[in-house]
Amino acid sequence: MQRKINFNAGPSELPPEVLHEASKAVRKYNNTGLSILELPHRSKDFLDIIEESKGLIRELCGIGAEYEVLWLHGGGRMQFCMIPMNFLPEGGTAGYIDSGHWANEALVYATSYGNAVALASSKDDNYSHLPVWPATQPKGLAYVHFTTNNTIAGTQWHTIPKSKAPLIADMSSDIFSQKHDYSKYSMFYAAAQKNLGVAGVGLAVIHKDMLKHVAREMPPMLSYKAQVKEDSILNTSNVFGVYVSLLMLRWIKERGIDTIEAENKQKAKLLYDAIDSSSVFTAHVKEKAHRSLMNVCFTANTPELEKLFLALCEDRDITGIKGHRSVGGFRASIYNAVPLESVERLVELMTGFKG
Ligand SMILES: Cc1ncc(COP(=O)(O)O)c(C=O)c1O
Repeated sequence: MQRKINFNAGPSELPPEVLHEASKAVRKYNNTGLSILELPHRSKDFLDIIEESKGLIRELCGIGAEYEVLWLHGGGRMQFCMIPMNFLPEGGTAGYIDSGHWANEALVYATSYGNAVALASSKDDNYSHLPVWPATQPKGLAYVHFTTNNTIAGTQWHTIPKSKAPLIADMSSDIFSQKHDYSKYSMFYAAAQKNLGVAGVGLAVIHKDMLKHVAREMPPMLSYKAQVKEDSILNTSNVFGVYVSLLMLRWIKERGIDTIEAENKQKAKLLYDAIDSSSVFTAHVKEKAHRSLMNVCFTANTPELEKLFLALCEDRDITGIKGHRSVGGFRASIYNAVPLESVERLVELMTGFKG
């Protein structure tokens, strides 16, 4: 198959080695005589997949047994539900940093369960910069939720802000993209379909202390404690999805976070430099310190030029470059698996483009 140059925001490009291993497993998984698609979720082989993946998560994050590692269904948005259900008690308040579309969605979901308030917001500026992290917080917050990388607007927190209340991070679009102090969090989570595998799978990593603060009774599927008790196989697991995440984790370990970070910085610099020096394209995020290494958003001078450039990209087998409707223009998602050559091809096209 002739592969396209893929800048999709998620589901996004997967490394060829991972695609190869995953397709081999679809035909035959180890010596089981079964396809991975037929593998029972309570089989020894799947329990081994869970164990190895949990070990790799802890190793890559530099955390230990004080954190529970869960593979859950429902991607990112399921966590928007489970977090307030589990950790926002009636009469309590949770703080949310409203730095982008998904951060806002998490806040809106939380209001179904209790008092969730925006502690800071850049919504009025269409999230084109990060909001100022609040210097002080209201007392007694159940937790503070923030989104480390804003996938749609293309902003990213490059240092972990301080919080007195337990800090919960949505890391769906930048997990394992650079060195990171995961031990600062009471919980972090990610939808898998960007740096960690395929859609529908959610990774949740929760400090054991946080699990002491469960707010209410709820059906087991939605309860972190029940999921921990059943070690992510409470119901029929997404065996294939979790296996692809394990392949991604092996790939990340093999390459090393330092190498991945260096490459991500190189790709992002190449693209931002091309945009900043262009007379046709303009970056959505002007504040350089707020720019995302993962999602690079930019516009062209006129809607006509945007149409022309989009058609040119299609003609050159570049896909997934159209910006989200709330920002317009273009978005190149350059997650870990997107090779430098893809960015070079895009930059070449942009540099030569005069409309
Ligand atoms: C940062 C972030 N959080 C949450 C989500 C929602 O994930 P899902 O579609 O798996 O619910 C996304 C989706 O792109 C995202 O980028």
